[in-house]
Amino acid sequence: GEKMSFKKRTHNCGELRPESEGLDVTLNGWISTVRDLGGMYFLDMRDRWGVTQIVIEPEFQPELAERAKELRSEFVMSVSGKVRMRENPNKNIPTGLIEILAEDFEILNKSETPPFEIIDDLDTNEETKLKYRFLDLRRPVLQNYLLVRNQLYQVAHKYFAKENFVEIETPYFMKSTPEGARDFLVPSRINKGRFYALPQSPQLYKQILMISGYDRYMQIVKCFRDEDLRSDRQPEFTQIDCEMSFVEQDDVMAMAEGFIIDLWKDVLDYDVAPNFRRLTFDEAMTRYGSDKPDLRFGMHIETITDIVKECGFKVFADTAKNGGEVALLNAKGAAKDYSRKKIDALTEFAKKHGAKGLAWMKIVDGKVNSPIAKFFDELEIAKIISAAEAEENDLLLFSSDKWFGCYNVLGQLRLEIARQTGIMDKVKGKYEFAWVTDFPLFEYDEEEDRYIAMHHPFTSPLDSDIDKLDGDPTGLHAKAYDMVINGAEVGGGSIRIHDQEIQKKMFSLLGLDQEEAEEKFGFLLSALKYGAPPHGGIAFGLDRLVMTLAGTDSIRDVIAFPKTTSGLSLMDGAPSSVDVGQLEELGLALLKKDEEKE
Ligand code: AMO
Ligand code: AMP
Repeated sequence: GEKMSFKKRTHNCGELRPESEGLDVTLNGWISTVRDLGGMYFLDMRDRWGVTQIVIEPEFQPELAERAKELRSEFVMSVSGKVRMRENPNKNIPTGLIEILAEDFEILNKSETPPFEIIDDLDTNEETKLKYRFLDLRRPVLQNYLLVRNQLYQVAHKYFAKENFVEIETPYFMKSTPEGARDFLVPSRINKGRFYALPQSPQLYKQILMISGYDRYMQIVKCFRDEDLRSDRQPEFTQIDCEMSFVEQDDVMAMAEGFIIDLWKDVLDYDVAPNFRRLTFDEAMTRYGSDKPDLRFGMHIETITDIVKECGFKVFADTAKNGGEVALLNAKGAAKDYSRKKIDALTEFAKKHGAKGLAWMKIVDGKVNSPIAKFFDELEIAKIISAAEAEENDLLLFSSDKWFGCYNVLGQLRLEIARQTGIMDKVKGKYEFAWVTDFPLFEYDEEEDRYIAMHHPFTSPLDSDIDKLDGDPTGLHAKAYDMVINGAEVGGGSIRIHDQEIQKKMFSLLGLDQEEAEEKFGFLLSALKYGAPPHGGIAFGLDRLVMTLAGTDSIRDVIAFPKTTSGLSLMDGAPSSVDVGQLEELGLALLKKDEEKE
């Protein structure tokens, strides 16, 4: 039963060492395992700090051994006894040289048999773990992830305070604004028929704070985006959001690098060199097939559009003549590993990522082995081999499509081959930091048949592109930059437009007239009229930084109470239906099933 007063711990479960031999101690914690070896009990006792072995000896304490019969995993205990050296030390845990010979114990609370064992390498389905998240969170791996996350908060506050940033909270109930992802909406009871939107980021507010003179702002803040979820995407996630006045791109980047340097030092004791490598968006795409390239390994992409313009392979020649691109990926040393069957599987993979097919060449025994070799003359083959820097046992994979699709597929294949051939395992523990810069200012939205801002509509064009704002929106680039670590986009930002004339041109290129722009972004446009300083900033994805530091691929590992990929919280059952009365109070009614549109 539950006890109101109990013997409090003198030590935690992770700190006792041989120096404490002979000491009388008390530990509080959970029993993780109970082993009964012929009446002699070995318990592992666990808390946030570690695990300590407890021994109950029947000869020494017959009454205690009798009471120990009822002990089960996850019971909460207070145990007192003497520290002694273990006969069979466990070198794998820091407390493994000692144990506690129990003199007394109290059960502080019992536990039902848990649905899974509280161990690190747990082979239980994700749903069960999320439903019993309170037990899942007891596992040392998950506790460690959340402790790393906590360390990150501390470093962020310390670093930005040292750099004179002011932490300011911005509203979670704001006006719904277009652009970006879909908003989550909150109905207003007092103003029926009206809705607040949960912010996708504090972007507009932080710009206003610059106009209000705060100069340097930071906030660790929740952001909400109703978009399709993935292993690195949650509907609510956390940013370390920053904005600075009287700065240019290099100033924001240097500040952001300083934070990463402190963070890697503090969490991993790893020295990061400043002046991260910089790649333009175009370089990143045409070299690595991604705007967030994993630079821990090579495997480059080479463009061969010019080489194949006149070739006999119609797919390539037509694409090259019609403004598309033809490119190849050299998977070095992979030819022998990739049988026909494995290449067929790669082709399926490529098709899933939008490819129309996957042509290939192998260099085996000094010869080119390829179903498409027959379409090329000797000179073309020689040029392809030379462009690819292909050698014995290389596998070349070809893609031909419109610019983005062509490179994107090869970028996906590059990662897939790195996973399949063990390159990804080999680079574990390595870190490559980079900036991707000069993003396109606009991207074409096929669905809406119009241009949209790639970063957001307040992002400044490159100085060299300002004069071109009156013409064609394609080909313009932005003062926008992403920080990329090991192939993850961990942050992104831009220099903002502080000039009203430029802002007006941006809106007009986005197809918004002055009235629509006022209606949608009125408050920021109004503020921009009253002396906006040059300003810019960045937001780090805090969850993704923790993932990178802790070395996990799942964003759910680093969030205490995450959602599934279908947006469900399995522990509490959100989202749930509400009763009609609640809806009426809000002035809302649900559509009947047959009225629901897609
Ligand atoms: P952006 O949209 O690039 O920029 O977001 C910044 C960073 O936040 C992380 N991130 C996410 N993490 C988890 N789940 C998501 N759904 C998710 N979406 C984004 C990424 C990303 O790099 N206001 C601008 C910043 C600025 O311009 O200063 C913004 O929000 O790591
Ligand atoms: P086909 O002559 O259409 O059978 O194609 C020959 C090879 O080219 C096959 O291996 C196809 O998968 C590949 N292929 C077809 N279209 C493309 C494309 N757009 N890009 C790259 N390879 C392609």
